[in-house]
Amino acid sequence: MKHTFASDNYAGVHPEIMEALHLANQGHIGSYGADEYTEKAIIKFKDYFGDDIEVYFAYNGTGANVLGLSALAQSYHAIICTDLAHINVDESTAPEKFIGCKLISIPTKDGKLYPAEIEDRIQRVDDQHHPQVKVISISQSTEFATVYSTSEIEAISKVAKKHNLFLHMDGSRISNASVSLQEEFRRFTRDAGVDVLSFGGTKNGMMFGEAILFFDPKLAADFKYRRKQGMQLHSKMRFIGAQFDALLSNDLWKKNAEHANRMAKLLEKEIRKVNNAEITQSVDANGIFVKLPAHIIPELQQEQFFYIWNDRISEVRLMCSFDTTEDDVKRFGRKLQALLQA
Ligand SMILES: Cc1ncc(COP(=O)(O)O)c(C=O)c1O
Repeated sequence: MKHTFASDNYAGVHPEIMEALHLANQGHIGSYGADEYTEKAIIKFKDYFGDDIEVYFAYNGTGANVLGLSALAQSYHAIICTDLAHINVDESTAPEKFIGCKLISIPTKDGKLYPAEIEDRIQRVDDQHHPQVKVISISQSTEFATVYSTSEIEAISKVAKKHNLFLHMDGSRISNASVSLQEEFRRFTRDAGVDVLSFGGTKNGMMFGEAILFFDPKLAADFKYRRKQGMQLHSKMRFIGAQFDALLSNDLWKKNAEHANRMAKLLEKEIRKVNNAEITQSVDANGIFVKLPAHIIPELQQEQFFYIWNDRISEVRLMCSFDTTEDDVKRFGRKLQALLQA
């Protein structure tokens, strides 16, 4: 079966996760999180992030983001994010519908927010006529597959603290970021000032499931009700717990992300061999953004499918995953070369 470069969501389930699902599929067991698998997974998260956190599971990344943010913002608040942020462009209007607040999106060239731009948008504080900024939301790794350094996150957190805002992180690809930074999860999240984190599983080998981590348990006070109200309470929770338990055991998360990131680097090397392809972003994690001559894109997509990111400038997005092979990468490189020489 051919692999694509469409998305890390196109990949299937890692065999060790499938095995964990299979092993959890025995007998009757408590539902809605009252089971040993969920308990074990929560302990794993606490091993990484500290005992004094609250961990909740959700089905998908949109649910994790929207519910996590809903614990931080009221309907009269505003959330600052980039114009590319998943919460801004890929979650329909779920944040607006479920939180009812305003999203203030800042145009980004590299997927990141920067302190000065954030400061610029914090205006009319305490003015009853104006949306009150309450949260800064960043994605790590970003939608451009770039990765914030820990000091960049700390600088954003400083702005958050100065203005009494919360810092939220969409970590749907947090494992790719950790591997890229060669830093422990905790160092660039909790210790860098993040308050609430969506921790992704699906893009790194799981079948489904994301975690919402609260580094201040007080923020999670009503969260069980929010999650149920938000339709993200999984009845057969053991199957999310078992997957996270497997992902966070034996460094599986790391092996998968290291592999995906390495394949992206290899693909970057292949692309840099040709003249007519311009890589537009730093290849920090598991994605590559590249401008290609428009006429070759359809045939290249036929070889191994990928998405056009920006039609206007003929920029495409190539995503690698835990199951991308060196052969996939080489084949793409050969086809690219052949089409550009034709
Ligand atoms: C940056 C980012 N956040 C979150 C998600 C999770 O989205 P979903 O609701 O499809 O699981 C995605 C998936 O594409 C993403 O790219």
